[in-house]
This record gives sequence, C-alpha cells and structure tokens, in this order.
Amino acid sequence: MKTQIFKIIDENNVNQSLIASAAEILKNGGLVAFPTETVYGLGGDATDKNAAKKIYAAKGRPSDNPLIIHIADPKDAELYAFTSELYYKLADAFMPGPLTVILPKKDTIPAEVTGGLDSVAVRCPSNKIASALISACGVAIAAPSANLSGSPSPTSGEHVINDLNGRIEAIIDGGISDIGLESTIVKIEGDKLILLRPGAITADALLCICENVEISPAVTEGLKKDERPLSPGMKYRHYAPKIPLVLLEGEKDKVLFFMQEAQKKEKCTLLCYDEEAELLKNENIIKIGKREDLASQARCLFSALRHADDFGSDIIYAHLPSLDGLGLALYNRLIRAAAHTVKHVD
Ligand code: TXA
Ligand code: MG
Repeated sequence: MKTQIFKIIDENNVNQSLIASAAEILKNGGLVAFPTETVYGLGGDATDKNAAKKIYAAKGRPSDNPLIIHIADPKDAELYAFTSELYYKLADAFMPGPLTVILPKKDTIPAEVTGGLDSVAVRCPSNKIASALISACGVAIAAPSANLSGSPSPTSGEHVINDLNGRIEAIIDGGISDIGLESTIVKIEGDKLILLRPGAITADALLCICENVEISPAVTEGLKKDERPLSPGMKYRHYAPKIPLVLLEGEKDKVLFFMQEAQKKEKCTLLCYDEEAELLKNENIIKIGKREDLASQARCLFSALRHADDFGSDIIYAHLPSLDGLGLALYNRLIRAAAHTVKHVD
C-alpha cells in the first residue's frame, strides 16, 4: 500500500484541506496516523469493527488489547459510554489533555475496539491537529499508539514513518510530541479512581480532584504469573530495546562513577543526564535531559529507547527514576523496558 504523508508544521496553523482529506480516509474505513500531545496515534473510525481489525493487523498487536477512543469534546463521551459526576470533574480539570478515563461502554462501540471488554477508554486530546481531525471525521477515532507492537510509542512523524509506512493509508507528520509519554489512564470505580497507567497527569494532580486514588500495583511491579491485569496492555513487554537494559539505582556520584568505569570495561550504551555527558567519554551516550527536568526526560525517553540499539553495544545502562510526580511515569516505562532489571550501585 502507498502511504500518503501529510506534513503540518504548525499545529496553530492547520491546513484544513489536508485535515479534510485525512478525515475522508477515516470515514471510508481507512487508517490515518496522527499526532497528539502525548504520542502519535494510529486512528480508525471507532464505530467500525473492520477499522479496529485493520488497526490490530497494521500494528501486529494482539486483538485482546483494547483501543482508546478519541473525542473532540468531553461531552461526546455520552455517545459511547456511561459517564458520571466524577467523569465530569476529571473532564473539567484535565480535558482536553493527556488523561484517559475508563467508563462502562455503550453499544455504539463494537466489541472489536474494546477487546471484548464491557468498558471503553475515552480521551480528549489537546493537540490541535488531533482535535481538528476528530471534528472533521464527525465520529470518535479509535487509536492505539502508532508504533509496531513491542517497539516504543512514536514521538515524531519520522518514528511513525519508520514503523508504519506502507501498512496504512496516511500519516500526518506534526513534528515532535510535546509530552512524549502516553496519557495517564484512570478507571472510575464508584467514588474511587484507580490509576492504571501513569502519565503527565500525576497522581498528586488526580488527588486534587478525588481524594480516593489507588495506584494499581502493576504500575511499579511485574504481574505475577497467571494474574489477570485490570488493563490488558499491562501484560505485554513494551518499549524494549533488543539488547539488555539495566537500570542503575544509587547515590548520584556513585552511579556516575559506575558509568565511567563501565565505559572502560564494556561495550555499553549510556542514557545519561545532560550534566553527566561532559564527565563521560563522548561515545555511545544518549542525553535524556537535565537531572531535575523530568518533562524533558519524558520528551526524550522513547526516542532514546528507539536509538539505544544503534551503537553495537552489549548492554544499555540508564538511571532508575524516582517515583515522585512525573517520575512515576518514567519509572513505569523504564522498568518494563528493562524487564525489571535494577542494579544497586554502592
Ligand atoms: O496517550 C495515549 O494514550 C496514546 C495516544 C495515541 O492517545 N494512546 C495509547 O494507546 O497509548 P495504547 O493502545 O498504546 O494504550 C492504551 C492502553 C492499553 O494498555 C490498553 O490495555 C488500555 O489502554 N485500555 C484500553 N481500553 C481499556 C479498558 N477498557 N480497560 C482497561 N484498559 C484499557
Ligand atoms: Mg501503545
């Protein structure tokens, strides 16, 4: 298949005729990858079961891993799901933006989209290209991240082109994603929120809206054998480079010393903070932002994981993030990429 590439340089100056062409593809049952503020999505009409099947096929993704539906206005959730007071509190605080809410689904959403679950994941993105596309389509867009299954979520048009060129009808290239990590996912259970996937809307931010926030153990721990995850995506090994990734935990000087010694002894790739780069040999290192700047680390992480295999190393070392604020989202992605391999350095 020949994939059309639509380039939109400035999300504040969206070319409406490109959006209309992309929406036409979606309305005819085709697939379009598009930018959001978190990561790129691989979109299809959320009410069309055949579009869902095409999405799974294009990604090479197991079809029991449900898709998120993207809406242009938080109130549009009514068309596809049963909402609640707590949903609207979350919507007022965080939508449009990087939050996904799991709600009981209505029959307008086919079982193929939700992997057979009776709930549906709803998100209203703030990226202007995404919201223009959803509005032009006139229906919710089902979209997982636009990567091939198993590789990190794409945070640039180039990543999407590398993964999906030739497999889908069109890709809208809108440059680099603002946030760089996928949305925060919460499930509403009565007056309680269960945090299923941490993202840029932090647990502390959720606590300002709802005093009862429970962090699912799967956010930080591995699933036990035969355990059924609340969010099916949790059971898949994600974001993983091909060579082993080890996370380093310990005092900052000791971790830096470990990295310096590793460069002498092994063929290693280092994901390091900007401040460390000049104290390391300038080879096989990927800078991931300043130590205290978690937002820039979030923006860099998936691109770094995509390139970490490129140097012909035997092993990759990275810092173990803290569990605070946006750190929890970084921790969650890295601990899975590393298959829970942490080395304490002392
Ligand atoms: O930021 C994002 O959320 C991006 C952009 C494109 O919007 N999308 C994204 O989709 O990350 P995906 O498919 O890669 O991840 C969706 C996650 C999966 O782990 C899936 O299992 C979970 O959401 N999920 C979807 N529907 C669910 C449901 N009904 N109940 C529980 N988990 C659900
Ligand atoms: Mg994904």
